[in-house]
Amino acid sequence: MKVLILDTAEAAISRAAGIIAQTITQKPRAVLGLATGGTMLPLYARLCQLHAEGLRFAGVTSFNLDEYVGLGADHPCSYHRYMRAALFDHIDIDRARAHLPKGDARDVHCEAIRYEGRIAEAGGIDLQLLGLGSNGHIGFNEPTSSLGSRTRVKTLTESTRQANRIYFEREADVPRFAITMGVATILEARACLLLATGPAKAQAVAAMVEGALSAICPASALQQHPATTVVLDRAAARDLRLGAYYEHVHPEGQDRVLA
Ligand code: GLP
Repeated sequence: MKVLILDTAEAAISRAAGIIAQTITQKPRAVLGLATGGTMLPLYARLCQLHAEGLRFAGVTSFNLDEYVGLGADHPCSYHRYMRAALFDHIDIDRARAHLPKGDARDVHCEAIRYEGRIAEAGGIDLQLLGLGSNGHIGFNEPTSSLGSRTRVKTLTESTRQANRIYFEREADVPRFAITMGVATILEARACLLLATGPAKAQAVAAMVEGALSAICPASALQQHPATTVVLDRAAARDLRLGAYYEHVHPEGQDRVLA
């Protein structure tokens, strides 16, 4: 794992945006895995800004990690809607190649299998963007998700439902299930980029980077991925035991040239 620690959330967001921009500049037909959540909003705003400055998404294919079961694409709290508002409406991505699982599919289990197949047909994911749940989830792979899991329907934990409560009018409206890429699906991406900011993520970050490889912290599975970059602000990095070492290896979050 490459752990990059930046002074501020703004600097972390800018660093993560730079990695995405570099990926699609080097490979204009890149397949991106995309994430949702509050952490990603300023990152997508930065990507929109980079697009206004000339970054092109026209050749990009994207696959989002997850969608709530029961919410159609036009539901105001769906991740379909989130992605349009935060990113797709503001860039030149071909909407036909911007994929999310269909939360309102008649058979959501079949939809999960179909979605996994679409990722394979696209040749797999070049760069998978990830946020981090404060309970250590990635996508909606809640604690004790199999580290060998594929795209499927997961039951959300009460803590995840509470964390996402702010986006819904009433508590009863927060979905109980989601279709999510599995942990093994995520690990098949050729590179992963996890962004976490703020003190609420500090414990989960420490468990992911320095804790035991365990299904109780699904993000710890990234320890087995050969090309994962974790971008953090100082607050999210607070509980890392080897923080000083990561900063020595990557001063100000930069790639160090051997010298
Ligand atoms: C949500 C999403 C995840 C996201 C995480 C953190 O439940 N399914 O993909 O990374 O929780 O969200 P936030 O960035 O709002 O803390």
